[in-house]
Amino acid sequence: MKNETLILALESSCDETAAAVLRGERTVLADVIASQVKLHAEYGGVVPELACRAHTESISAVVDRALADASVKLTDLDAVAVTQGPGLVGALLVGVSFAKGLCWSSGLPLVPVNHLEAHIAAATLEREVETPFLGLVVSGGHTALYLSEKPGNYRLIGQTVDDAAGEAFDKVAKIMGLGYPGGVAIDRLAKEGDPKRYAFPRPMLKKPNLDFSFSGLKTALRTHVLKHLKGLDEVELRNTCASFQEAVVETLLKKTLKALEETGAGRLVVCGGVACNSRLREAFTHAAGQRGIDLIIPRPGYCTDNAVMVAAAGRRLFLNGVRAGMDLNAVPTWPLEGLS
Ligand code: KG4
Ligand code: ZN
Repeated sequence: MKNETLILALESSCDETAAAVLRGERTVLADVIASQVKLHAEYGGVVPELACRAHTESISAVVDRALADASVKLTDLDAVAVTQGPGLVGALLVGVSFAKGLCWSSGLPLVPVNHLEAHIAAATLEREVETPFLGLVVSGGHTALYLSEKPGNYRLIGQTVDDAAGEAFDKVAKIMGLGYPGGVAIDRLAKEGDPKRYAFPRPMLKKPNLDFSFSGLKTALRTHVLKHLKGLDEVELRNTCASFQEAVVETLLKKTLKALEETGAGRLVVCGGVACNSRLREAFTHAAGQRGIDLIIPRPGYCTDNAVMVAAAGRRLFLNGVRAGMDLNAVPTWPLEGLS
């Protein structure tokens, strides 16, 4: 094998069709994303049927573009990594089938990747991440805390009992008529709002465990919006966004600090789409600085769904000898636990 690995990765678990080429640990030769945001915007959320069709339409061009951007041919590669799950089954199947086709025709090894591990592996694109570390995955589909004591080993120590944080951002934005994806809109409006204007609940903070809950907060927000039947004026809309965002960020931060204390971990990875949130990044950076915690939050482009993170996780698995056969299937529900 060459000194440096060359991995092509495919991601199609939700509403982004993505392909990337990664050389070695963190040299990104291509990072192509065909976003379906506009397609799903009018429905205020991802429509699985539409997602699946859009992936099918664009995957071939996205992969061709990635190989062209990287100036590599299939025969130059060491492996093809693909997101196997968790995610929307029809959407996942598009990436898995395409990757199988590539490997069948080229003889390249096929490496199956867990999407949650890929989100965490995004941190390794920034720099070395030694174990043990605590991983907070905050995305549209997941909100979970993992303790990783060895590379590739993740122990779930807390998770949401209802909505994911990103889902709460999206649903609340929909209630306020702010469009999809809601997190981005709320983040933008919150910048000029007063986070102390409304005291929304901080769910589960009094509970001794490390679980989260965001559905009560969402209901509180809905009640608040209904109280202003004529609609919130621009100033109150911004204040509402800032106050809601503050409640989510404070809840995530306090539970994470508790987890750091309980596990004794001195290193923290925060990843997933919600880790793009500017207030979250600021609050976590401040808290980590005060406590001497080594914090890694990937750059925003590697927090939302992308294929570079899949390549990063796939590379480690490839080097560990993980291979899939032509019978590889999509796994819509795939907990990230145990050794892979
Ligand atoms: O990781 P991701 O791209 O897809 C999943 O695996 O779910 O995360 C998407 C989620 C959406 O819910 C979106 O609203 C949220 O990430 N998000 C944000 C921000 N940017 C994206 N939430 C809060 N603030 C942001 N700036
Ligand atoms: Zn994701």
